[in-house]
Amino acid sequence: MINPTTRPVWKALENEFKRMESVHMRDLFKQDAKRFERLSIKFNDILFDYSKNRIDVGIMELLVDLARECGVEQWRDRMFAGEPINHTEGRSVQHAALRERLGKPSYADGVEISREIESELKRVKTLAESIHTRKWRGFTNQPITDVVNIGIGGSHLGPLMVTEALRPYTFHDLKIHYVNNIDENHINNTLETLKPQNTLFIIASKSFTTQDTLVNAQTAREWLLGRIDNEIDLRNHLVAVTANTQAAQAFGVAPENIFKMWDWVGGRYSLWSAIGLSIVIAIGTENFDALLEGANEVDMHFRTAPLERNIPVLMAVLGVWYNNFFNAESIAILPYDQNMHRFPAYLQQADMESNGKCTDRQGRVVNYQTGPVLFGEIGIASQHAFYQLLHQGTKIVPADMLVPISNFHSIPIHHRALMSNIFAQAEALMLGKSEDEVKTELKAEGKSDKEIGELLPYKLFPGNQPTNTFVFYTLNPKTLGSLIALYEHKIFVQGVIWNLNSFDQWGVELGKKLATEILHELNKGELVESHDCSTNGLINYYLKMRPEND
Ligand code: F6P
Repeated sequence: MINPTTRPVWKALENEFKRMESVHMRDLFKQDAKRFERLSIKFNDILFDYSKNRIDVGIMELLVDLARECGVEQWRDRMFAGEPINHTEGRSVQHAALRERLGKPSYADGVEISREIESELKRVKTLAESIHTRKWRGFTNQPITDVVNIGIGGSHLGPLMVTEALRPYTFHDLKIHYVNNIDENHINNTLETLKPQNTLFIIASKSFTTQDTLVNAQTAREWLLGRIDNEIDLRNHLVAVTANTQAAQAFGVAPENIFKMWDWVGGRYSLWSAIGLSIVIAIGTENFDALLEGANEVDMHFRTAPLERNIPVLMAVLGVWYNNFFNAESIAILPYDQNMHRFPAYLQQADMESNGKCTDRQGRVVNYQTGPVLFGEIGIASQHAFYQLLHQGTKIVPADMLVPISNFHSIPIHHRALMSNIFAQAEALMLGKSEDEVKTELKAEGKSDKEIGELLPYKLFPGNQPTNTFVFYTLNPKTLGSLIALYEHKIFVQGVIWNLNSFDQWGVELGKKLATEILHELNKGELVESHDCSTNGLINYYLKMRPEND
């Protein structure tokens, strides 16, 4: 495994970059009337248009060669075979096995895992169905009307994002709440709206050691116990999903209420496992199966399609092109579907926790750029917020735009206007506006030559901002499953090219450890001198200013 930048293909791409840097996409489109047909792929219900990128066919071939030479196919096969490719934690990476629908056996480090997956999924579905059919009753023999998922990171963002995205498919007589913040406002605001007799809490934590989750879980437990007389009655109000069943039991969750996950599922890739329990409760078992199926179809595509027509590979190499050759610092995710409002936040963890790393697989500090800063928001809202920078700023910001052809409740006046916006924005970002166009426009508005001269520089749009557009028929469970899996594999491919382990997350440990130490100091309440002067100053200021008993 070598530094990707030392490969001849990388050098060839550097030369191509020098050529392409000054080329405008509007000229690429002028030169090739078939650019859209050439540079777009249809996969099931999803059309992936990558023609509005600063590339030509030759560059794409080189980028795909780079992926091939970096061993993407071999690493992919090793991942699907269950080899422990997460070498720093000694773990396999088998989230795809969770959606393997053909009864094909899957393995993690040589051990067959399919049966366990199947049986845990069955337990999850049984619980969800017993809530739907109102067989699962609270301590006053009333049905469950509210479910609160307490988790953070991968134990929160995936389930929250999917539940929101699939809102039209949810059971309307059931409310699902998500609490992640250790700030008591979050759980308090949630509890305010709930009745204990109708509420089920899911404590979702792979490790069952995450402070934020455990503190929230403790508050939830006390809230229940304040209203329920005994631990036995608590049973129908508290379940857990974890790989650490002992800790969950010690916390007071009944063994039959503990759902298992495994070491070979990374937190940020875990929504397909029992961590998705809140999703199954929200959308039902058939819809959850469709979500898995959509992801599984992408897994098959990723495993079998030639790299030149392999969507996650193409998404990945385009990202590398901008990140490493154009020095783009960021990537924007812009869904034009209100229900996808947590999609950027979900991808932020998936991408940045996976590839935000500066150490390669051999333990060397890399001398090239790795994962970009990912940000995003609903496209329409962003147009009235940060698109100004995309249109006229000084930075290159590659963006992914996503939109459904039809909404669940399509109302033409809304949906056509929405569609017109995404098409217009992608076009404007690509074309920009030239001097001649601005002059003609201002003349038509009746401006004098003097006024035109003064306004002209401010009215120019450089264009040439790259976008990928994903158009899908409608945001149903299957399509959503496919979209998520496309991004998961994109992230994996980029990790391979950058020679990273995308599946550990040591970077989050330091802050956790320091917070634990500082918490001891805060509990002691004595002024501190053990940190740098800023941290000492802040801690001591807090200690002096905090109200008594706080
Ligand atoms: O702090 C980051 C992290 O470790 C994520 O990787 C993970 O998804 C999240 O915390 C929650 O972890 P757990 O599910 O073990 O509570």
